[in-house]
Amino acid sequence: MTSNSLSNAAAASTTPLTNLASTPSNAEPNHADTLSYADIQSIVADDFDIMDKQVFGSLNSKVQLVMSVSQHVINAGGKRMRPLITLLCARMFNDEPSQQAMHLAAITEMLHTATLVHDDVIDESGQRRGKPTANATWDNATAVLVGDYLIARAFNLLVGFQSLPLLQVFSDGTCDIAEGEVLQLQHQHNPEATEADYLNIIDGKTSRLFMMATQGAAILQNKTEHLQALADFGQHFGNAFQIVDDVLDYSGDSELMGKNLGDDLAEGKPTLPTIKALELLKDSDTAGYEQLRIAVQTGKTPNAEQLIELVRHSGSLEYCKQRALEETKLAQQALSSLPDNRYRQGLYQLTELASARLV
Ligand code: IPE
Ligand code: IPE
Ligand code: MG
Ligand code: MG
Repeated sequence: MTSNSLSNAAAASTTPLTNLASTPSNAEPNHADTLSYADIQSIVADDFDIMDKQVFGSLNSKVQLVMSVSQHVINAGGKRMRPLITLLCARMFNDEPSQQAMHLAAITEMLHTATLVHDDVIDESGQRRGKPTANATWDNATAVLVGDYLIARAFNLLVGFQSLPLLQVFSDGTCDIAEGEVLQLQHQHNPEATEADYLNIIDGKTSRLFMMATQGAAILQNKTEHLQALADFGQHFGNAFQIVDDVLDYSGDSELMGKNLGDDLAEGKPTLPTIKALELLKDSDTAGYEQLRIAVQTGKTPNAEQLIELVRHSGSLEYCKQRALEETKLAQQALSSLPDNRYRQGLYQLTELASARLV
């Protein structure tokens, strides 16, 4: 499995479909095989198609610019991984087509899209999902306002469920996402940032939405006794996913991922690969340590390639990979108290696939 499998998931995979459907529901997931993203998607194929149409169909602004910008980002693709998680969770609890679950899944993607539009403004990114970003195509102000619209519209649609517990989870979660992004901004150019600071940031900006995607499904299916297990699953899966993304910013393929790589260092963002590299270089390569420290502090990287090599050779990426695997294992353990069926296996396989991007 390469990064291609998950990054280009929108393009249908040609990997043969492993027959998950015939796996007895009480069987352990097959740890040896990692399914392709398309295989996992196919477990909830009908729900997924309806959800995907709803992501487009839910946009109804009377302002043409809002529609154009939103459609630009949504049409660009994306894996639709958070809605996939919602759909798998909903079916794991109740194996019936649920219009509500599909609708909630589409809302989850709308929120995710909003965070990406905002993130690209903050990160000054020029490419997303293989297309020019909204900020690059229009401008920062337009991107920020349309991102705001997408969040507002998501809540507008959430009200339709008439469920205060659902609104509570989504409103708490959205506050935490925003706080995570602000925390990240505070740590920009901070070479003293620690792994604990980093975990705090990603817990908010990334993992919280994974938690919402799972917990929302449980609330819809009246399975609130599983909220804690789902919170653990979402948090650890989200952590693993972001650590992998941050490693790929140093070692991935920009074309396959559809976004600019190397941005994190250029922006002086202390992600785990940088934090760990600084720690390792401090004792082994004083000159390298100073260079990297100054790059984080100033965000000036005239010698970017050399610095990226420095991080790659510091042993930091191996450490991050280990941490991502630990987080993946914790996410998988959290699944053990949930109903054991092919949907749970799909969630398990999704975690395998996400960490396999580093193999
Ligand atoms: C990107 O998420 C943001 C991160 C949390 C790293 P995805 O990699 O799921 O982005 P899309 O939706 O497929 O574009
Ligand atoms: C993830 O952070 C963005 C959000 C969770 C909103 P990144 O800045 O690493 O995401 P990419 O790499 O731009 O997709
Ligand atoms: Mg970014
Ligand atoms: Mg990134």
